[in-house]
Amino acid sequence: MTAVGIDAIEIWTGKLQLDLPGTFAPAKGEDPEKYTKGLGLETSSFPDAYEDIVTMGANAAKRLMDRKGLDPQDIGRIDVATESAFDNSKPVSTYIAGCLEQVYDGDFHHANKGERKFACVAGTQSIDDAYNWIKAGRNRGRAALVIATDTALYARGDPGEATQGAGAVAMLITEEPSVVELSTEQGYGSADETDFLKPNQQFPSVDGKRSMQVYLARMREALTDFESVAWDTHPSDFAYIPFHTPFPGMVRKAGLLGYRHMIRDTEIEDALEGRIGRQPREEDFEDWESYEEAIRAYMDELKETEEYRSWYADAIDPTLNIARRVGNWYTGSVHVARASALRHAADNDVDLAGQKLLVASYGSGAQAEIHAETVAEGWDEEVGALTIDEQLERRYDLSYDEYEQVHDRHNHDMDVELEEFTQPEGEFVFTGWGRMSERKYDYVE
Ligand code: CAA
Repeated sequence: MTAVGIDAIEIWTGKLQLDLPGTFAPAKGEDPEKYTKGLGLETSSFPDAYEDIVTMGANAAKRLMDRKGLDPQDIGRIDVATESAFDNSKPVSTYIAGCLEQVYDGDFHHANKGERKFACVAGTQSIDDAYNWIKAGRNRGRAALVIATDTALYARGDPGEATQGAGAVAMLITEEPSVVELSTEQGYGSADETDFLKPNQQFPSVDGKRSMQVYLARMREALTDFESVAWDTHPSDFAYIPFHTPFPGMVRKAGLLGYRHMIRDTEIEDALEGRIGRQPREEDFEDWESYEEAIRAYMDELKETEEYRSWYADAIDPTLNIARRVGNWYTGSVHVARASALRHAADNDVDLAGQKLLVASYGSGAQAEIHAETVAEGWDEEVGALTIDEQLERRYDLSYDEYEQVHDRHNHDMDVELEEFTQPEGEFVFTGWGRMSERKYDYVE
């Protein structure tokens, strides 16, 4: 069977940053450690006055096409995943194609374009669509461009404000990929939930605590479903497990649940028995509440064990390095987590080719999806080309007043002029609105 997967990745961060413990926490009268230790965040990314989901997506895509030496005719499909769209009809992919056509010879007139929506899981679903399109033999030898781009803003004063972020991830999906091959097996955990939604509004209505419970419940369902078609997973099966990362503290909870599930009935559970006992089994309890209480007590002990701590440090913590500095990028978040892990491996000379990742995506509303990936020969060269560190270093550091101005500038219900904080160079910029309220873009040399 032909291998299909991710051949190249590019990441574009919003050009501004907000220091959460240093600037945001004092302005809110909160303890900085809520951000660093509790949520696990240091800074978040924001778009400058001339940036939006189109510019960030187009800039990531251009960088990817330039690096891979691609022309528009090499691309047969452009799918954009976003939950920050500003138009209920015209897809963001047409805007991005229009931007790219300004700078390349040729056009994307024979490429299939679309926009995927299912909260943060839509980026992974777009990869799925591309995978299926290639596997079905409909691609005529061409690659698919998947772009996950979001400006994840919450209303000011909403608890979610702490987890904002903005950026785009562009991925090239091809046969014989250079980064990762995707497994055919997938697991789903999906249910009609009202944890986080945007009923025709820009800023989300969120039940924060409930959203965390739903995330964990759907992830657990998806893992069981994955195992039913793949195999019983074990912690040693995967070099890294990138999760959707709304904030690193959420992944801390998901990682512990996943570990408990994977070690059940294994030699690890046996080895831990003398210290923390065996895992509570539902059939040994009279009701669900007492079972849950016993599970919570077991997990409190499990998380302190050397076995768990060292697995977490190896398989999970490296996936969070970028998220800590950029916040939530919604559709791009799990793809940032994968890139973060691969970059950590490259920086530490880990020989990763042939090893497996377990990728756990999630979208509110709600659906989790879990699949495995096999790292391809050539991954290190691709990952070595990422410039995310330099981009993060170059971000303009906002004061709290400036943050409020930027938030207003990107509020669709406000019409706020704002002087840019950074100078655009070699990138697409937003220039204003046309006669039908369409957005206009130019390429700045
Ligand atoms: N020192 C150390 N830790 C501290 C602390 C301090 N001084 N103060 C607080 N903390 C800890 C808290 O104990 C808590 O950790 P635990 O959950 O492990 O107990 C953590 O920091 C956060 O503190 P709070 O719970 O008090 O924070 P909050 O109520 O203000 O908001 C939130 C947290 C509900 C996640 C909020 O940020 C939110 O609504 N976010 C948006 C929704 C979201 O991201 N949900 C995630 C799942 S849904 C999803 O994944 C989809 C998506 O992308 C949105």
